[in-house]
Amino acid sequence: MRFDGRVAVVTGAAAGFGLAVSTRLTAEGAKVVMVDRAAEQLEKAAAGLAGALPVVADVSVESEVDGYVAKAVEAHGKIDLFFNNAGIEGRMAPMTELAVEDFDRVWAVNARGVFMGLRAVLKVMKQHKSGAIVNTASMAAIRGAATFSPYVAAKHAVAGLTRCAALEGAPFGIRVNAVAPGHIDTRMARDLTAQINPDDPDGVFERTSASVPLGRYGTAEEVANLAVWLLSEEASYVSGATHLIDGALNA
Ligand SMILES: NC(=O)c1ccc[n+]([C@@H]2O[C@H](COP(=O)([O-])OP(=O)(O)OC[C@H]3O[C@@H](n4cnc5c(N)ncnc54)[C@H](O)[C@@H]3O)[C@@H](O)[C@H]2O)c1
Repeated sequence: MRFDGRVAVVTGAAAGFGLAVSTRLTAEGAKVVMVDRAAEQLEKAAAGLAGALPVVADVSVESEVDGYVAKAVEAHGKIDLFFNNAGIEGRMAPMTELAVEDFDRVWAVNARGVFMGLRAVLKVMKQHKSGAIVNTASMAAIRGAATFSPYVAAKHAVAGLTRCAALEGAPFGIRVNAVAPGHIDTRMARDLTAQINPDDPDGVFERTSASVPLGRYGTAEEVANLAVWLLSEEASYVSGATHLIDGALNA
């Protein structure tokens, strides 16, 4: 039980990576404050996990971010671990066909939401002079992708925020890293295959799988393995980096 006595906050916890990380952390003894805006799905997800506290919040709204952090502190008195993960894919289209609102919507969740979460949680962690944070970036943080500019821009921002937070947190014993997943089989990945070709999403899925050197999509559990390791004491000298997990796609 390597997370016995630890308090974690996980955003985007109702599904995908957030649920996989919440599952691992609770199984290994942590109390997990599970944050998501999808209230019904969150209730169901948290009900199956011992030591989980569901908190409905939208990470793109400042008062709700400060609210989920306040609820975690009220319930457990501290925050040791933070998986700053909630994100959306937005609409895929060339820049010339996007509305400014398409950009703003993705930026609000994937970049501003990550910044606001870091700001609020770092304030708490600085008080008790310890903590580990993992932000969810993407391979879109290290390369471009045609028709995906708002997402790519926001994920580059997550890599930058990770570096800054690691430098600001280091004097307080706080480590900050990011995971940068490639193609991982979650709802988000399935929505993207449908956006690329609504008539044949399975064909897109197969071709995408074949383009990965390891020959398949990853799983949310595989991403959780990396994120949980980065949150653990085993990663005590790892900070400030964005870690690819992509089946060698970007090798
Ligand atoms: N699946 C992939 O291939 C992939 C690859 C790289 C990065 N990512 C990133 O991983 C993260 C998790 O994605 P996933 O694949 O698990 O997706 P998912 O859609 O399965 O899960 C995302 C969760 O976040 C929640 N969420 C979305 N917007 C929110 C908001 N404003 N406030 C609170 N909760 C919100 C959703 O309700 C959902 O439960 C995202 O940041 C995504 O960009 C995913």
